[in-house]
Amino acid sequence: MKMKMVLLLVLVWMSAASAAKLGVVQTEGGQVEGKSHWTGLLRSVDVFKGVPFADVPGKWEKPKPHPGWSGVLKATEYRERCLQVTLLQTKTQGSEDCLYLNIFVPQGLTLSTNLPVMVYLFGGAFLLGASNDLAILGDSLYDGKEMADRGGVIVVTVNYRVGTMGFLSTGDSRLPGNYGLWDQHAAISWVRRNIRAFGGNPDNITIFGQSAGAASVSFQMLSPYSKGLFRRAITQGGVALSPWALQRNPMGLTKKVARSVGCWRTDEDEMIACLKMSDPVGLTMAGKINVLLLLGKGVVMDLLELAPVIDGDFIPDEPSQLFHNAAQFDYLAGVNSMDGHLFAGVDVPSINQKNATSVDQVRGLLARLTKEKGAAAIDSSYSVYTSNWGLAPEQDLVKKTVADIETDFLFLVPTQIALQLHANNSSGAGTYSYLFNMKTRIPGLPSWVEAEHSEDLQYLFGKPFSTPLVYFPRHRDLSGYMIAYWTNFARTGDPNRGDSRVPVTWPPFTKYHRPYVAINHQMTKYSVNYDLRSEYVSYWSRTYSSLPTVRTVEEEEKEV
Ligand SMILES: *[C@@H]1O[C@H](CO)[C@@H](O)[C@H](O)[C@H]1NC(C)=O
Ligand SMILES: *[C@@H]1O[C@H](CO)[C@@H](O)[C@H](O)[C@H]1NC(C)=O
Ligand SMILES: *[C@@H]1O[C@H](CO)[C@@H](O)[C@H](O)[C@H]1NC(C)=O
Ligand SMILES: *[C@@H]1O[C@H](CO)[C@@H](O)[C@H](O)[C@H]1NC(C)=O
Repeated sequence: MKMKMVLLLVLVWMSAASAAKLGVVQTEGGQVEGKSHWTGLLRSVDVFKGVPFADVPGKWEKPKPHPGWSGVLKATEYRERCLQVTLLQTKTQGSEDCLYLNIFVPQGLTLSTNLPVMVYLFGGAFLLGASNDLAILGDSLYDGKEMADRGGVIVVTVNYRVGTMGFLSTGDSRLPGNYGLWDQHAAISWVRRNIRAFGGNPDNITIFGQSAGAASVSFQMLSPYSKGLFRRAITQGGVALSPWALQRNPMGLTKKVARSVGCWRTDEDEMIACLKMSDPVGLTMAGKINVLLLLGKGVVMDLLELAPVIDGDFIPDEPSQLFHNAAQFDYLAGVNSMDGHLFAGVDVPSINQKNATSVDQVRGLLARLTKEKGAAAIDSSYSVYTSNWGLAPEQDLVKKTVADIETDFLFLVPTQIALQLHANNSSGAGTYSYLFNMKTRIPGLPSWVEAEHSEDLQYLFGKPFSTPLVYFPRHRDLSGYMIAYWTNFARTGDPNRGDSRVPVTWPPFTKYHRPYVAINHQMTKYSVNYDLRSEYVSYWSRTYSSLPTVRTVEEEEKEV
């Protein structure tokens, strides 16, 4: 009898001790019901998957409002990704009906209210990817539960159109381009209008993203359409100033796509009419990347062609001329120390092999990267990158230099310039800079490789906590640091202030002082340094950019 009593009490206590849950939530389109996931004593995360934020989009049209639904929409499964080529590019996957988002809301004993909101834009070269991408060990890489639970923020992950369907453009009003950016804008706007019902604060929205998702965040910051829409932004390994982030000759690309789907016509209007009638699957396949086309001539970057354009509307001008629009947002940005290694390994394969990397290969890479500026650029860049080589450089140094060149050119330098333009234009909004330099966990890479492209994401999304068996305690330390800085920033605009303790104070980047923190598993006061790779930033942004252009993209096209 006594035993039964105790058991009953325990049961009563346990049911009372479960965290609050949202149940059915009323949105502008109708009611949605998600699922509550237990995360600890008195803690849970309400997860809503596949909530529509726009109607099924018309081909190469802006997204339209969703017509709404009656009854309760069960938001418990991810919806299909936007139509795209598969990773191996042999076929397509996904659907045109893809404008959905997912919401992760942390709960305690009582229902959460007024939480900061973090909206994530996935990466994938504007060609592939999804809000629920990369489910390797159970949940998607971008599953928001750990960040939401540990950081006390609402995480939202959104889909947007990619590839031909997301970015094909004629460079004029016939096919203006940037449909994927409009999708992102529609998703952020939906969050602003609806997130209060989920316990979020619509005046406290941070957008964040990585790679093409980071460049997307950057474009959202620069667009005049974002005025007052969100409050802060984080870019990880990509900005609108990255050389791969903008397509400057969209008509040239559209003609190539037209050729490959049998729509080539001398009359442009007829060609466009034909494209508009073409099968979306064929059009999507026509956007695939063919690395074999390089034949040692170009660099991988040249193949990333489907990208945002200056459309005179969402992006009215050169990105570097739009930073007055970004000045209203707090901004945190950085790169991985070897963000360019992946690309370098395709452009100069010997860096990852036993074979030697020759001085000629280094010069060859510089020549291919700088071809629009001709011989003067080869000589000047070569002397900058070999200044610390001495007479007989070790192979590891030569190989690392190749990775540094691509990291600087594709990611690091553009990010530093974006940080400077932001800080120089800001009056009140904060600017913060980081370098993520945790040693790579990818097996089989040479010992000099630090943080490869995308390696920051597993820590930010808390994988060392959710899949502890494949990580060590040091990885959980790092994961805790990143979640603390990122969610503090979302809460207050300052990565040091908020609900989470941080290992070292991260000083702001200003017009006259350029500190950054080195993010890894051992963070101390020595993690704060100044003027990240300033001689290389200065080379590319001053010396190189003032050299005269000898060949334009259009001339290149004619040669091919
Ligand atoms: C953002 O959220 C934090 C924490 O809830 C709060 O202190 C701050 O006032 C909010 N900012 C706005 C503009 O509501
Ligand atoms: C502010 O941004 C504009 C582009 O909008 C840029 O041209 C200008 O140089 C920036 N101002 C400063 C002081 O850097
Ligand atoms: C690299 O070395 C292997 C043998 O060690 C050789 O077969 C291969 O051709 C070399 N590759 C290059 C690009 O030199
Ligand atoms: C930002 O302002 C500083 C100080 O005036 C200047 O040295 C720097 O060149 C500016 N950066 C950019 C990108 O305009």
